Amino acid sequence: MVLGTPRGADGSPEHALEHASARAGARAPILSVESLSLSLRGTPLVEDVSFTVAPGEMLGLVGESGCGKSVTALSVMGLLPTPPIAVSGGRVLFEGRDLARLPQSEMRRLRGREIGMIFQEPMTSLNPVFTVGSQIAEPIRIHEGLSEKAALARAADLLDRVGLPNPKAQLARYPHQLSGGQRQRVMIAIALACSPKLLIADEPTTALDVTVQAQILALVDGLRRDMGLACLLITHDLGVVAEICDRVCVMYAGRIVEAGTIEAALGAPRHRYTRALVDTIPSSNPPGRPLPSIPGNVPPPGARPAGCAFAERCGAALDRCRSEPPPWESDGARAFACWNPA
Ligand SMILES: Nc1ncnc2c1ncn2[C@@H]1O[C@H](COP(=O)(O)OP(=O)(O)O)[C@@H](O)[C@H]1O
Ligand SMILES: [Mg+2]
Repeated sequence: MVLGTPRGADGSPEHALEHASARAGARAPILSVESLSLSLRGTPLVEDVSFTVAPGEMLGLVGESGCGKSVTALSVMGLLPTPPIAVSGGRVLFEGRDLARLPQSEMRRLRGREIGMIFQEPMTSLNPVFTVGSQIAEPIRIHEGLSEKAALARAADLLDRVGLPNPKAQLARYPHQLSGGQRQRVMIAIALACSPKLLIADEPTTALDVTVQAQILALVDGLRRDMGLACLLITHDLGVVAEICDRVCVMYAGRIVEAGTIEAALGAPRHRYTRALVDTIPSSNPPGRPLPSIPGNVPPPGARPAGCAFAERCGAALDRCRSEPPPWESDGARAFACWNPA
């Protein structure tokens, strides 16, 4: 389940969070991000971001480029460059454990075994001088102590599972011998090598053509269903989120502005930013006409206006939107922070 800054209609953060968690069922979340704030040399990058992901759940994190999605994900993985970036508030819990309090060695173990991550650019994440087989087998050997031979057998299984034909032969190949889609499948195989409980996919298909994109997403969705994997899917593609996610968090300029079920948050958005994003989905537009885009740009960190950060690009902004931060409202299916909701 998900919630933006968890502040209920009665003003109490816990009230809104509990209310919305109950809807997601009784499963305890694997990942809880609680009021996370990140800053770059004192300038806020991410402010007061909260969400949870439960086993078997796929949470979408959407927003235009520069909204803080990747730094949020990297913070969960403990992979932020600190300094210059610092956690200025909040915390990240994995199975109830505060990641900031874990020793480095335990964090490395979590990253290898419990949390898998797929990045946007498979070419920059794969090592060009090692074979596909050795790159998949390495985490298995390190974290599960399997022999080289057993780890390579598992690697072939994984390649089969992610849909690479002739998996045994693929083990001996190098990344440059694969297509973009094949490399992304290898990345997924590496992320899944030690059967993680949580998968973080940061724009996993942006570099791929549409057909391969659909195949990769179907693959991740299937793994989630078969293995009960909890999944955080980061993308700027709302169509994808609407299709495969259970819930969504919409981020704008470092903050969550709307969060809830797909039906509520994307089907009938209340925040004007979510509304504007939904209006840019190809399927919500008649074919043949140019897609609308949101005029203007996301304000960079350090230049975020007072009040609602979206006000300067919003067709429905009131005077108050430019001066006062909007309060949170929740209707059970979603929460949002907008002075003049759609
Ligand atoms: N390593 C870094 N050092 C300095 N600034 C960064 C770093 N990573 C991200 N940022 C800044 O943080 C903001 C959010 O970036 P990012 O999380 O990459 O956004 P998104 O993934 O939503 O496109 C951007 O303004 C970006 O320039
Ligand atoms: Mg990003």
